[in-house]
Amino acid sequence: QGAVASPLGSLGFKPVAKSMADMVVVPEGYTATIVYALGDPLSASTPDFKNDGSDTAFDQRAGDHHDGMEWFGLDAQGKPSRTASARGVIAMNHEATTDQKLSSFFLHANGGASTLPRPASEIDKELMIHGLSVVELQNDGKRWAYQKASPFNRRVTTMSDAVIHGPARGSEHLVTRYDPTATKARGTLNNCGSGKTPWGTYVSGEENWFGYFFRDAQDDDRRKKDKQVQALVRYGRKAGAASRHGWESGGSDERYARWNNGALAASAKDDFRNEMNTFGYVVEIDPYDKTQAVRKRTALGRLGHENCTFARAVAGQPVVAYMGDDARGEYIYKFVSAARWDAADAEPANRLAAGDKYLDKGTLYVARFKDDGSGEWLELSMDNPVIAGSSYFEFKNAADIAVFTRLAADAVGATKMDRPEWAGVNPKNGEVYITLTNNSNRTPAATDAANPRSYTDLKNGKEQKGNVNGHVIRLAETQPAASAFKWDIFLFAAEAGADKSTINLSNLSDANDLSSPDGLVFSQATGLCWIETDDGAYTDKTNCMLLAAVPGRVGDGGTRTLTHGNRTVTTHAGKPQTPATLKRFLVGPKGAEITGITETPDGRALFVNIQHPGENTNMADIGNPAKYESHWPASVGYGVGQRPRSATIVITKNDGGLIGS
Ligand code: FEO
Ligand code: CA
Ligand code: CA
Ligand code: CA
Repeated sequence: QGAVASPLGSLGFKPVAKSMADMVVVPEGYTATIVYALGDPLSASTPDFKNDGSDTAFDQRAGDHHDGMEWFGLDAQGKPSRTASARGVIAMNHEATTDQKLSSFFLHANGGASTLPRPASEIDKELMIHGLSVVELQNDGKRWAYQKASPFNRRVTTMSDAVIHGPARGSEHLVTRYDPTATKARGTLNNCGSGKTPWGTYVSGEENWFGYFFRDAQDDDRRKKDKQVQALVRYGRKAGAASRHGWESGGSDERYARWNNGALAASAKDDFRNEMNTFGYVVEIDPYDKTQAVRKRTALGRLGHENCTFARAVAGQPVVAYMGDDARGEYIYKFVSAARWDAADAEPANRLAAGDKYLDKGTLYVARFKDDGSGEWLELSMDNPVIAGSSYFEFKNAADIAVFTRLAADAVGATKMDRPEWAGVNPKNGEVYITLTNNSNRTPAATDAANPRSYTDLKNGKEQKGNVNGHVIRLAETQPAASAFKWDIFLFAAEAGADKSTINLSNLSDANDLSSPDGLVFSQATGLCWIETDDGAYTDKTNCMLLAAVPGRVGDGGTRTLTHGNRTVTTHAGKPQTPATLKRFLVGPKGAEITGITETPDGRALFVNIQHPGENTNMADIGNPAKYESHWPASVGYGVGQRPRSATIVITKNDGGLIGS
């Protein structure tokens, strides 16, 4: 392999110290500039964002909770360009909102209603603030700015048209009142991680979509002959489950009623029992063409999708993508296309048609990790006799596997992981890195070589248990479509002061200690591995952060034996880290997760998302801005008001150099 333009073998910057300040801190010699925040208008006619809870028209504004994002260049004439680094569009996920007691409280003037039924006017804003945006950015030679009136600007919301593709298209499980033919659906939701396809489109993972649906306590009885009850429970919706925002309470209009799983009519054509089955996919858009609807790529399975990252496409070989399912004890997946890569598709005439070619037919696999440092990809298809003959769940066809993927993975005996978040592919050697953010359910008795830590972290009298700080696992395959792999653990996240024989196994110091790795992306320009955190365990000492790593390779360390009472677990660990191989690059403002990262192809501008600053604010304090946890970014001069806003920043080096050098 070896697609890296200017590999950086070292980290030239000075590490940033842990920080609790309400600001973005970057190394000396670097500048961070805010370019695109919640509510920013995406058309010339949309009013400026007042940031006081009175704003409307969110279908024409930046959404909330900026998450995964990817850069797509434009040349000076505004035509798509793979190399353009001064002008481009960024496609971005707007995952969720900062909420308490049903309400997205920073979006409503008085914090909004915290009891049911919720006012339709509040729900309407919340429906529009989720989804995706596409926004044009330009560097005029002095500074970066988003282009408010760009014709490329776009919003996709929970109400936008979507087209079902892949094995679940036309399936009985996706028959809805909206489309009895099961070929279309409404919207995309809780979009988390991102990816860029080899044919130049944007993909986004729908993650915690199930929490938006209500099931009343009688729904099991009503559905008693329905095999979907097992799936509803497996996807987190027991009968009696309340919804995150109470959107179902807004009235009889479908835009509200569709969020109620349980109001059954005579048949699925007349009710909303299958609405939940229309979410949980990787969705694809052409970032350069806002006239085309979202395509839901059901061949990649229905999960709590994080990101979807592609192996380098090789002519004549299948296209391969890696994906995590982020919940405690969920799995790692790989998709292998049926079609072989044609290098001419790197610049296709019709990008979404290329998506149809590579993402609608193929095979989904799930990972089993063995204690000896090897692993295998287990096929999730009717060709696998374990699935065809499963008594655990009666799979009849490929649509059943595409819609109830977690059950298929259960049936084949995949390895339950410590919350798989982002996957990244090392452009130098094709190795796949996957963050396992933490797992409070990992008991000492249930540790295995791939998820080997379970410990207690006592903090200010509060006890946290399990894999408190998370780790990063990595896989090496002889080729991306291979059915076997070798693995080791690249990094054990830990506090620098933690015990080095049980917790701080990677020998982290103040220059590079971290907790809860989540976003993970390799720079195509420098080969550095960027790691972002979404933490709640070390937040007594530091806000969330971004670190840069110089990757090694699978097997460059040795084995480590951990003792849990009378049980021992031997794992495979990479080399201990030093500030030469792992270094903190950025610390974010208060209450924020650092997530989403993309770069210009020249490696000289790095875009990072600051998600939910101030999320620990008490909703009851909405009338008292002095009590908000954060006032970023208005506090540093971006926009007005005192309410904190998710935002995109761009980081440049003052001497114009590569980011990380
Ligand atoms: Fe949206 Fe698992 O993070
Ligand atoms: Ca995440
Ligand atoms: Ca996370
Ligand atoms: Ca978050």
